Amino acid sequence: MKLVHTVAEARAARAAFPTLGLVPTMGALHEGHLTLVRQAREACGAVAVSIFVNPTQFNEGADFDRYPRTLKRDLELLEPTGCDLVFAPDAAAMYPPGFASSIEVGPVSAPLEGAMRPGHFAGVATVVCKLLNIVQPTRAYFGQKDAQQLAVIRRMAADLDLPFEIVAVPTVREADGLALSSRNVHLTPQERAQAPALHRALQLAKAAWGGGERDGDQLRAAMKAVLAGASLGRVEYASIADPLTLLELDEVGDAGALASLAVRFGDTRLIDNLVLGGPD
Ligand code: PAF
Repeated sequence: MKLVHTVAEARAARAAFPTLGLVPTMGALHEGHLTLVRQAREACGAVAVSIFVNPTQFNEGADFDRYPRTLKRDLELLEPTGCDLVFAPDAAAMYPPGFASSIEVGPVSAPLEGAMRPGHFAGVATVVCKLLNIVQPTRAYFGQKDAQQLAVIRRMAADLDLPFEIVAVPTVREADGLALSSRNVHLTPQERAQAPALHRALQLAKAAWGGGERDGDQLRAAMKAVLAGASLGRVEYASIADPLTLLELDEVGDAGALASLAVRFGDTRLIDNLVLGGPD
């Protein structure tokens, strides 16, 4: 496993692989990331992982400051996966003096996470575009847990004719349903005990949809009712939206919808989603 830090080193190392998967990450790796890495390696024959806590996608300075930085442990976790290349730049390598560009992806960036975190998706789109251009992977792998991020990146790749396949990988969960996230380490034991309410709420919406409920408000209310049982959580949104545009639906068609949630436990913000009409 080769570790490189500069753009020039990453480009030179990448040239060794005829086909390559890329898993962009911000480090603090967990089983969800490792699942992406294994899948990318199996499909592409070789895999690169980028580790960069991207300052431009954090709209709260405190969230950026306390984001876990665990490079040594990340490398130890990646080694047994057969990861071939790790690109771990610093901020100066990604944003040298004079850097002035930003990618705005338009309406799909606006609701949900975009509304709660102004500027977040411009930061994500810009850094992902840079990582794709630097590493030039055959395919890039992203977790379905960040469903809106995935929609934004797909839109950007299509609009800007980026010649890289974008692959979505299902969310990896704890046994009690909590989606794996680098932020879970910040939950207190009491918050952690209540956090699986997100998955329960999503499952309830999915079951209601399966049972014929098509009214968006009813589905949103059903999720909020489950979340009300998590007394330490503050719901930021409970959404039933079109899976492509992410606009809220009054009526869910037979093609389904994206059910998604953001809930704040103290300073820790959790998000999760399930596709109504898609696999769990
Ligand atoms: O999902 C993440 O970890 C980040 O948003 C990403 C895609 C690595 C961009 O910084």
